[in-house]
Amino acid sequence: MSMRIFVGSVKNIFILFFTAAILSGCLFQNPDGGERIGIGYNKGYSPEQPIAFSHELHVSTHKIQCQYCHNQVERSKSSNIPALSTCMNCHQQIAGEGEDQAGIKKLREAYADNKSIEWVKVHMLPDHVQFNHQAHVTKGVSCQTCHGEIEKMAKVYQYSDLSMGWCINCHRQPENKAPLNCTTCHH
Ligand code: HEC
Ligand code: HEC
Ligand code: HEC
Ligand code: HEC
Ligand code: HEC
Repeated sequence: MSMRIFVGSVKNIFILFFTAAILSGCLFQNPDGGERIGIGYNKGYSPEQPIAFSHELHVSTHKIQCQYCHNQVERSKSSNIPALSTCMNCHQQIAGEGEDQAGIKKLREAYADNKSIEWVKVHMLPDHVQFNHQAHVTKGVSCQTCHGEIEKMAKVYQYSDLSMGWCINCHRQPENKAPLNCTTCHH
């Protein structure tokens, strides 16, 4: 490591540290429950979504693979929430029955109006951390290791705390041979 890069990264770490200290002092409080809704550590976080979408129904009952919808997971740096057109591959035909009709009706209306659904993000790493799905998925780390049993969730919640300790603990396991140097995860 050259001296310049070393000094640069130490400086960045300090900046990180101060930013982190400031942020942790003024993390927003969730009015109903006092749960932190800032950056990281939001274990259990499960925001309301514009349409109640059930992973349990789609994955367990109807046997749709994760990657049918999250189809960028192996290819790109980040995973993705499916576009409405992916939903419409089925919901052009499937209107649902009983209570199921309301959500599907919303989907169809949005599609007809050329709109998208504004899903609320559940997982949020701070900007100073870089995470890479591809690196993990291609090494055979299952979705459930990090996200829990999504296929049993009628409503998604954050399963892991996404802390640095959580990342490091797994990287440290000898069989993973995963890097531990700061710049792996921090710019
Ligand atoms: C039929 C499409 C579909 C399938 C199949 C599907 N998902 Fe999803 N997934 C979605 C949609 C839509 C959202 C956004 C709405 C929500 O969070 O409930 C989402 C959200 C998520 C999130 C939270 C994203 C965030 O905002 O941080 C995770 C994690 C996730 N899915 C993992 C999985 C895993 C793992 C599987 C397989 C076991 C899977 N999904 C299968 C459509 C799908
Ligand atoms: C491979 C086919 C398929 C795809 C793709 C698909 N669905 Fe579904 N979905 C179904 C089936 C089957 C049902 C059950 C319909 C019924 O009740 O008869 C369903 C039911 C639903 C329901 C009503 C039940 C509930 O969960 O409340 C909603 C809302 C829904 N889907 C949203 C979505 C969204 C949003 C997407 C895209 C992210 C999507 N679906 C993609 C097959 C699919
Ligand atoms: C090693 C842990 C790990 C594994 C394995 C993993 N994820 Fe994730 N996932 C994360 C983290 C961490 C985030 C938050 C990323 C961020 O905020 O930048 C995330 C975010 C997501 C999101 C939200 C969109 C995004 O990219 O931020 C979806 C969707 C998702 N994961 C789906 C999946 C699916 C599907 C699989 C399996 C094919 C999977 N993940 C495997 C840790 C993991
Ligand atoms: C359950 C175990 C596990 C967890 C949790 C985990 N990782 Fe990893 N990580 C791995 C494995 C395995 C690799 C692949 C190592 C290799 O390339 O051989 C990897 C690779 C990476 C790489 C790519 C390194 C490179 O040079 O290609 C980055 C970046 C990374 N992880 C960041 C993170 C971050 C950030 C978190 C936490 C938010 C995290 N990881 C959580 C197991 C894990
Ligand atoms: C495998 C990934 C990974 C590696 C390696 C890593 N970090 Fe982190 N780091 C994270 C994640 C994820 C966060 C955000 C969550 C948190 O604050 O715990 C974080 C947060 C931080 C913070 C902010 C702390 C706070 O209290 O908010 C500092 C400072 C930091 N890391 C410094 C370092 C240093 C120094 C190293 C090298 C010795 C390092 N990190 C290596 C993933 C990693």
